[in-house]
Amino acid sequence: MFGKEKIVTTTYQMQIEAMEPCKIALVSDLHDHPGDRAASILAQEQPDLILAAGDIVERCTYGESEYTKDIMNKYQGIVNDGSLRYKLSRTLLRAGEVLHKKNSVLCGGLPFLEKIAAIAPLYYGLGNHEWYFYPEDRAFFAAHNITLLDNADVYTDGVRIGGLSTRYDLDWLKAFAKKQGPKLLICHHPEYYFRHIKGTEWDTFDLIVSGHVHGGQWRIAGQGVLAPGQGFFPRYTYGVHEHKLVIGTGLSNTASVPRWGNPMEVVMIEINHTKTNY
Ligand SMILES: [Fe+2]
Ligand SMILES: [Fe+2]
Repeated sequence: MFGKEKIVTTTYQMQIEAMEPCKIALVSDLHDHPGDRAASILAQEQPDLILAAGDIVERCTYGESEYTKDIMNKYQGIVNDGSLRYKLSRTLLRAGEVLHKKNSVLCGGLPFLEKIAAIAPLYYGLGNHEWYFYPEDRAFFAAHNITLLDNADVYTDGVRIGGLSTRYDLDWLKAFAKKQGPKLLICHHPEYYFRHIKGTEWDTFDLIVSGHVHGGQWRIAGQGVLAPGQGFFPRYTYGVHEHKLVIGTGLSNTASVPRWGNPMEVVMIEINHTKTNY
């Protein structure tokens, strides 16, 4: 069940007048699994830009930084309210994590990033499994021209690209949102858009790409069943929302059971001036 499930390519066409037409790839949630199949898809697709929306590697060992699971959960708004619903969802997610660690060879993230950085410029936002990076990680990113966006933004080829980490910095986000020109936001958590951005004065992004929810693990009649941070029957697990938020289902299965009706995916977003398909 680990690494053997199907990976598909999902393509969306989006209209962003302020940007030059281009092909943007979205990848997320490899969780250090081998990424050769996804890298082959990207080599075939030849995107102009690759956005990695977090949880590509696993950097969440206690004692390696000041961060803990409790701290990360607090950012995500995950609180133990004592309910049966909370306990059941945490037990299922925890069981998945334990089995995942036991069965996985956790070393696929960096080789994957190296491969895909050779295909197109790569911008990397951080998820809840990336609490910290080691100095050697940062040296690796620099050596392979991988732009790490940890509550930070850059300007390139007429577009600004920012990354809102799980450990979010809303002051940075607000400053980024006020900058002129087309803006892309890598935001691991789709629920952060609805919690922190939608309807606010900094809802100025042309495109937001997310992962994290793994499509809701099982999809029945288009509805995901369970997602971290959203619980059972989560609302934001897949596809395009609000004409700007694209959620990918990720590149690995970290649960103790297979995914169902919910293939892993490389997402291609074709930016153009005339047509949309969502
Ligand atoms: Fe994930
Ligand atoms: Fe995540």
